[in-house]
Order: sequence, then C-alpha cells, then structure tokens
Amino acid sequence: MDAVNANSPSMKGAAVLMTGLGKDYVPPLTFKNLFTLDWRRRPMTAVENVNLNLFQGGVHAFVGPNGAGKTTLLKLVTGLLQPTRGTVEVLSMDTMRDPVRVRSFVGYCITDSRSFFLRLSGRENLRFFGALQGFEKRERDHRVARLLSDMELDDVADRQVMTYSEGMKQRLAIARALLHEPRVLLLDEIGRGLDPRLREKIYRMFREEQVEGRGATLLMASHNLEEVATLADQVYVMSRGRILASGTLADVQPAIREVFKED
Ligand SMILES: Nc1ncnc2c1ncn2[C@@H]1O[C@H](COP(=O)(O)OP(=O)(O)O)[C@@H](O)[C@H]1O
Ligand SMILES: [Mg+2]
Repeated sequence: MDAVNANSPSMKGAAVLMTGLGKDYVPPLTFKNLFTLDWRRRPMTAVENVNLNLFQGGVHAFVGPNGAGKTTLLKLVTGLLQPTRGTVEVLSMDTMRDPVRVRSFVGYCITDSRSFFLRLSGRENLRFFGALQGFEKRERDHRVARLLSDMELDDVADRQVMTYSEGMKQRLAIARALLHEPRVLLLDEIGRGLDPRLREKIYRMFREEQVEGRGATLLMASHNLEEVATLADQVYVMSRGRILASGTLADVQPAIREVFKED
C-alpha cells in the first residue's frame, strides 16, 4: 500500500510542533444582537499561546477540566480547524499549507467528528472511507474486515449505523482512524461509551500495536485521570486554553489537583 506512504516524511524531527498557537471562536449572531445593536460579537479564546514540540513515538496526553480547550487543540492538529494565531506542523508539514498531505499521515477519533452515513452499514462506511484514502479494493476490504473484528463489531458490521449504540459508533470511529495506519493518532476522550473490558482491550491495542508495534505517535485528550495514568508517557495540563505544566504524570500531579479544583 504505497498510495499513502509514498514520500514519507522523516522519522526524525517533531511529530507535532505548535508555535504561538491560538484559537478564538466567534459566537454566532443571535436574535438578541439585533436589538441590543451589539454587532461586535466578542470572540471567545479557546486556545492561547501554546508552544509545544512533541517528539515522535509515545503517548502525549492533554489533561484538564471541561472547556479547557483540549478538543480544540486536537482539531487544530487535524487541520480541520484553522488557527487564529500561530502555526501547527505535523511531521514538518504545515497543517494550513499542506492540509491534504497532513491528513494522509493523521488519523483522528474526535468526539464531534464521529459522523457516518447512518443509512449505510458499518462495513460500507469503512469501505467508503478506505476508498477515499486510495486503497485498492482487496487491500481495503481486508483491512476493513480485520478492524471490524478487532473492534468486536463483526456481529453488527452489516447493520445500518443508525441502529448502533454510542459505544459501537465509538469503536467504528476508532476503526476509521486506524484504517490508513496513520503516523500520528489523535484520540479525544477515547474511553467514553465503552465498558471496562473493551476499554482495557482498546488501551492495550493502542499501546502494543500502534505505539510499540508501528511507532505511531498518539495525542490524546482526556479528563479521565485513570485513562491518562494507563496510557500517557508525557502529560500536558491544560486550563482555560493554556498549558500550565508538562512532564510525567508524577511531575504534574500538583497542577492536575489545581485545575480540577477550579472546575
Ligand atoms: N464551535 C465552537 N464555537 C464556540 N465556542 C466553542 C466551540 N467549540 C468549543 N467552544 C468553546 O471553547 C472552549 C474550549 O472547548 P473544548 O476545546 O471543547 O474544551 P475541552 O475539550 O477541553 O472540554 C469552551 O469554552 C467551549 O465552550
Ligand atoms: Mg473535549
């Protein structure tokens, strides 16, 4: 399968480099704005001045309470969201200048990007996304079958996605993220909706097959400290759009206590 991995970027250098990264959201115009003549909708800063150099390989975890900016940060790395300030580079490619190439090396499972064709089956959805990535049919169908089985979706693979539970959709989204064996994986609240046995199995799969087996780099966002303790090598504590501390889980314990106290 060389369509995706041709001209692979170097294994040296940063997996992800964020420089002066910031994102503001402008709230949508509301009816009230019309009457108060308040046309200056005040932007809301979700991510502010993040400077990080994430090495290749291993698991980097962004931790913080709800609203800290974790999901926004991961979306900026996908290139699906445009930074307001600063830049993001993935494997030395700028996400805004080279979006298509960046996405061929990135797989993501982000909470509100779990969209599928609801009338198609799980298998049909994966085949569709696999085709977009340029796989030839046999290779694609083989990968799809293996991922459906790894994610324990065999029994429901040919059912319409609209009949899936939250946990099944979550596992289908994980399968989609892994389809093209991405060098960089972005995982947002990955354990959500999964029972403890599946969660354990999926954590182990990420660690053993993706990180140790293939040398992939994982960026995860989580407010679940147990999940972080199980998976993370390097932890970044986030609050109100900023990175407050980084290091091993032990290093950042005081910062974690602090940001969850505020919450
Ligand atoms: N599409 C959006 N439009 C406006 N505000 C948003 C949008 N997405 C997120 N936000 C706001 O940005 C902040 C950070 O959100 P988010 O990145 O989802 O944080 P986290 O994932 O850490 O919970 C929150 O205050 C949230 O309300
Ligand atoms: Mg989030």
